[in-house]
Amino acid sequence: MSVSSQSDMEKMSKDFHENGFACMENFLSPEEVELLRAESHRLIREEALKEGIRNVFNYDCNLESNYFTESTKKTGFFYEKKAFDENGKLIVPEEQSVHKIGHAIHKTNPVFAAFTRSQKINNLYKAIGYREPKNVQSMVIFKNPRVGGEYMPHQDASFLCTSEPITLAGIWLALDDATKENGCLEFIPSSHKWPLARRNIRVVKDNGQVELIWTSSPKEYADNQFVLTPVRKGALVLIDGLVVHRSGPNLSENSRWVYAVHAYDKARCRFLNDNWLQVDDQDDKVTEPPK
Ligand code: FE2
Repeated sequence: MSVSSQSDMEKMSKDFHENGFACMENFLSPEEVELLRAESHRLIREEALKEGIRNVFNYDCNLESNYFTESTKKTGFFYEKKAFDENGKLIVPEEQSVHKIGHAIHKTNPVFAAFTRSQKINNLYKAIGYREPKNVQSMVIFKNPRVGGEYMPHQDASFLCTSEPITLAGIWLALDDATKENGCLEFIPSSHKWPLARRNIRVVKDNGQVELIWTSSPKEYADNQFVLTPVRKGALVLIDGLVVHRSGPNLSENSRWVYAVHAYDKARCRFLNDNWLQVDDQDDKVTEPPK
């Protein structure tokens, strides 16, 4: 396991608080990268196909499918729209068709659970002043060659909001080199000092059906406000829940896999119960036995 020095951690924390994001190369050892990649491959090969249906991820976040809302407590699989032709036939290899696995693999999958609860991850939270970090969401995002779509500008706290002070941190770990061509992250530096522009909230209708709605329309940002953040395989990008960021489509032949975890600081705020993702005390426990 590669070890980050005290000064690396202090610099990372300083950048995080000043800019709303921070990068640290070589945060993961090559062995850790391989471990998380191998388990992701295994999940696609052995688990995704068992489901018999392919849920296409909706980048517009209309999120009308129950499969999406129910994935908050399991290992769910979401596919890329561009991986299918107009008749719904898969046009890329199965392994390159998955958009992401989510949203609770930090507790449902033994490999990701062990890694997410490691001292290494805890030290990160401690470095940025989180006294009681609670992991609420986890995803492997694949952004595969040619089919990986873009993420429009957003603040993560729109989806995972807390009471004031809003605390939310995203740990984004590169399992591939992330470049301009394959859709690396882009940030508006210091935009975490701006208010939360809008929220995506859960509404339960009279018939019991859950609907996710936006509280207002998207805010516009100029392209020249964004700074590209290319990083190498094994790097960490730490993301404040309020910083405005986006990422482009993957137009290259190279994949851009990442493992991303989100946590809030339970010592300072409350996770809002109208978030799409519902948390409970069971969330800290592994719910599937190790295989
Ligand atoms: Fe994000």
